[in-house]
Amino acid sequence: MFKANKNYLNLQGSYLFSTIAKKVAAYQEAHPDADIIRLGIGDVTQPLVPEIIKTLHEGVDEMAHKETFHGYSPDLGYEFLRSAIAEEYRQRGCQVSDNEIFVSDGAKSDSGNIQEIFSEDSRVAVCDPVYPVYVDSNVMAGRSGAYDQAAGRYKNFIYMPCTEANNFTPEFPKENPDIIYLCYPNNPTGMAITKERLQDWVDYANKIGAVIIYDAAYEAYITEDSCPHSIYECEGARTCAIEIRSFSKNAGFTGVRLGFTVVPEELKDADGVCMHDLWARRHGTKFNGAPYIVQKAGAAVYTPEGKQQIREQVGYYQKNASAIYNGLKDAGYTVYGGVNAPYIWLKTPDNLTSWEFFDRLLHEVNIVGTPGSGFGPSGEHFFRLTAFGSYENTVRAIDRIKNW
Ligand code: MLT
Repeated sequence: MFKANKNYLNLQGSYLFSTIAKKVAAYQEAHPDADIIRLGIGDVTQPLVPEIIKTLHEGVDEMAHKETFHGYSPDLGYEFLRSAIAEEYRQRGCQVSDNEIFVSDGAKSDSGNIQEIFSEDSRVAVCDPVYPVYVDSNVMAGRSGAYDQAAGRYKNFIYMPCTEANNFTPEFPKENPDIIYLCYPNNPTGMAITKERLQDWVDYANKIGAVIIYDAAYEAYITEDSCPHSIYECEGARTCAIEIRSFSKNAGFTGVRLGFTVVPEELKDADGVCMHDLWARRHGTKFNGAPYIVQKAGAAVYTPEGKQQIREQVGYYQKNASAIYNGLKDAGYTVYGGVNAPYIWLKTPDNLTSWEFFDRLLHEVNIVGTPGSGFGPSGEHFFRLTAFGSYENTVRAIDRIKNW
């Protein structure tokens, strides 16, 4: 008789954003006239910029002719895209070669899949609160141990609280991890890390022989010069860090799907195994490449026109972030994030739990956000709002909260 992967039974509830979607759908069904403003999931709302649309059309036309038709993509992605990405790294002073860039269908898949190339008994350290994919993918792989309901934590994971007291940047854990997940600018807190502090993490990882999985999906939102756009701006990162990037948040590809992961050739495990080779092997075996049309559109992001247009679009969402941040402050809330990220992290009023605040916000002013506790126990009494709505809806939502 076949047997299921019982690790899945160790997962807690459904995926956070599925739970929220179900709750909102139930409310909308019971209140069909409610004008709900959705500032929950970090999904973009503005159309793709003209340069990307133009390139997508060109790609479609190429597929219509025998001479320009494209079948499977090369394993690592098309060279035209990887060299454009590598050039961008070079301009930031980072040493990343085309050959170290693996194009994929998005940062979510990569951040869920990357754990596969590490040993099953690796100790995993995650921030708390954290993007649930890092936790759940390691639960599925059997690294979590039992779930402790009272603590809201898995026994074998090392949790690194990110709180007001440490300005939402974790301290080094007491026990040594093998795999450390860091995401900056951070989802969900919207806080950034300074280059100096990230350098400390790189030094620490090199010292203890750990790998950092660095999720830089939100780097386009950085406004402060002290914050690094890539972990490879830090010295020594090539021997301890993998970086994951997305085209979703900078260029609006959430429905188009494109991302990439950098695995430096110097990244070796304790026995000298080259992690780049393992990821290449995994990519070749389990993935047949992002569509040609999409990769072509991805390259348009790096052209002068594309750069300027997506800069304006990111600016649009940044304006929303400021409107939320300042509006909530004016309304007397304690607010974090929003300066270098599209997420605003607010403290719930009157010591309400995150889910109590979620329900009240939905029922009383018809606004959807994300409960902080859904990202981990240290997120309790916090709440996340996203800047990815339309400007009009963002302003309406803040007005509703101010007049609540
Ligand atoms: C979020 O809301 O946290 C994001 O949508 C996560 C993601 O990009 O998968």
